Amino acid sequence: MIEHRVIPNHVAIIMDGNGRWAKQRNQLRAIGHRAGLKTVRKIVTYAANQGVKALTLYAFSSENWNRPETEVSALMSLFVYALNREIKSLAKNNIRLQIIGDISKFSQQLQKLILNAVKLTQNNSGLVLNIAANYGGRWDIVESAKKIASKVLQGELSIDEITEEHFNLEITMSNLPAVDLVIRTGGEYRMSNFLLWQSAYSELYFTDTLWPDFTEKQFEKAITTFNTRERRFGAVKVEENIC
Ligand code: IPE
Ligand code: IPE
Ligand code: MG
Repeated sequence: MIEHRVIPNHVAIIMDGNGRWAKQRNQLRAIGHRAGLKTVRKIVTYAANQGVKALTLYAFSSENWNRPETEVSALMSLFVYALNREIKSLAKNNIRLQIIGDISKFSQQLQKLILNAVKLTQNNSGLVLNIAANYGGRWDIVESAKKIASKVLQGELSIDEITEEHFNLEITMSNLPAVDLVIRTGGEYRMSNFLLWQSAYSELYFTDTLWPDFTEKQFEKAITTFNTRERRFGAVKVEENIC
């Protein structure tokens, strides 16, 4: 372990590669998703132990409805299974569950489970586990725009008062620290409509490792790499700021 290393406050992960992991084993894609859930458990525990304040996991994108019906329904069953199974341990481990995304498209049963789990853990003060479910970065921005537009319509806000700060308040995760680090497993180099607004100044880390194979050690490597990055936020290095 590196001394004096900074632990990112907020890590977001695009958990990609479950399908290919299954294919390598001649298994159904659903088996890959099940294996991916095991990795989720490991990584949540690791993040909580390392003192990460918020962990956002991309579980289902607004475009993932375009997958075959059998895969979508396997994923929905897995969410139900995971919530039923993990809720007590989240509560016990002081983890607060939060969801971002349009859950109104999920079954009544799943929506109820989600709302119960969020409520049960709402007073926990440890890691915030934020699950992006039926989430899209564009959806997120459009929802914020709608909320702002309605304030304008009601005369609570003028057009000139619409600022980035205002969007920051309306966009999801406004209660959480800024996203410091985005990790994508599975070897693709794209955002796939994940946190488009919130990742404006996040550090990006890509690995070829398929999500079911991702380990605590690899998470640690991502954090170590994060520590080697110089975050300038558009400014210049302090020592160069002399002329
Ligand atoms: C990511 O793994 C999990 C979800 C999108 C739910 P994939 O299912 O996209 O796996 P690959 O990319 O096909 O290997
Ligand atoms: C992104 O992975 C979505 C999740 C991990 C939930 P995808 O596999 O859906 O992304 P694309 O299709 O490769 O862009
Ligand atoms: Mg994929």
